[in-house]
Parts: sequence; structure tokens; C-alpha cells
Amino acid sequence: MTTRHLRLGVNIDHVATIRNARGGEHPDPVRAAQLAAKAGANGITAHLREDRRHISDHDITRLSREIELPLNLEMAATEEMLAIALRHSPHAACIVPEKREERTTEGGLNLFDPSDHLARMIAKLKDGGIRVSLFIEPDPRHVERSAELGAPVVELHTGAYCDAKGATRDSQLKRIQDAAARAAAVGIECHAGHGLSFDTVSPVATIATIVELNIGHFLVGEAIFGGLESSIKRMRSLMDTARAAATGARSA
Ligand code: PXP
Repeated sequence: MTTRHLRLGVNIDHVATIRNARGGEHPDPVRAAQLAAKAGANGITAHLREDRRHISDHDITRLSREIELPLNLEMAATEEMLAIALRHSPHAACIVPEKREERTTEGGLNLFDPSDHLARMIAKLKDGGIRVSLFIEPDPRHVERSAELGAPVVELHTGAYCDAKGATRDSQLKRIQDAAARAAAVGIECHAGHGLSFDTVSPVATIATIVELNIGHFLVGEAIFGGLESSIKRMRSLMDTARAAATGARSA
């Protein structure tokens, strides 16, 4: 599947990080989500971590009730998170690996664990009517394995691509392109995200089989200088320009 429209999911975790630094109510992630909708986001992403370091349970309750955009709940594959997801029934759940000591989600899921834990988790979320994605390394074998596990969607981890420079960045981009092509070949939907910025988003947005990008840290950081609406609008515009050039070139 290739599409002209590339969806933008805005991750609001770090609005909560700033709020939690003082323990009060400001800045409010729900207000950020409402502003993101006005600025052209197609969805809101929030990661309820096991240690609750940014988004809280109460934030998830409020996001479920108060925002109009679809909510994508990022979650570890634990029974606690499964129960929370089934209770709130967000539009989507993205299963991510989680380690307490990491600063952010450092890599994709381990899909080759011989237990059927992940497959059972995917099945239960799907039975709850939730669209499930797996956050994975950009590797065609991981895409194939995700399809075997029953995931209808994968999200490719773009962190290594964003961190790389020069020729290494080109080879990391190639990994994302190959994994996205594999997702189209096996018939599952492909998303991407992690670490994307104004400088790194366009080459990923040109990959026409990717239908959604989830972006957070850079947008919230950039909001300090120009406001959240402006940072999201600029990201949206870079994505749309890159996608239009890619799909226009293909159909020419
Ligand atoms: N997608 C997933 C699955 C993530 O875990 C994260 C980080 O929480 C993001 C996207 C957004 O990454 P960033 O905040 O670096 O833009």
C-alpha cells in the first residue's frame, strides 16, 4: 500500500515530563493534545510507562474522555498494561520494550522469545477491538516475524537512523526502506518513529509505504522556541512536501 497522506501522531509524553518536574498541573498534556489537533496532527500518542515517569493513569483517563483525535497508547507487554488498555479501549496500542533504567525506548521488541507471551498479548488487544502495532527494529525479518505473531501493524524504530551521520545514516535509512517494503509485501501496515526532527523527517516521509509517523520529543523541545502549534505545523508541512514529491514522482 502506498498513500499520499502520511498521518502524524504527536507524542505528548514530554509535556508531562515538564509538568512532573514541579509536580503540579502545568503544562497539561491534554491541552497539548487539543492544540496538536488544531495544528494538523492525526492522532495523539502517549506512553504509560511502568514507572509513570511522565504520563500518569489520570492522564490516560482524561485523554480517553477529552480528546477527539484517536489515541495511540504505547505500552509494555505486561498484564497491568493490558488491563489498562482493555479498560480504556484506545483506538490503538503500540507494544514497546521497556527497561526501567533506560532514558527512552532504546530498541525494538524481542520478537524471537520462544514463549507465546507476545502473540497472546496481541490477540487479547485485538479481541478488545484495539488496533495493535509492534515497535520493532527496521529489519525485514522482524517485520515477517511480527506478521507471524498476528500484528496488523508495525512501527519501525528510527532512532539509529536519526543518531547516525553521513554514510551510516544512509545505510540506516536503507534498513528502514527495506523493512517498509517488506511490510507492504506481507500485507501489514507500516509506521515509523523515534528521534525524528525537522532535519531527519523528510527522507522517512518519502517512503510511500509508511502511513504514519509518531513524533514527540523534538516537537515538545522545539515548542520552547516557537510554540507547539508552530513546531507541529512545520513538521506537518515537511512531511507533506516530502510525501507529495515522492508520490508525485512515482505516478509521473
Ligand atoms: N514511537 C514509539 C513507539 C516510541 O516509543 C516513541 C518514544 O516514546 C516515539 C515514537 C516518539 O519518539 P520521540 O519522542 O523521540 O519523537
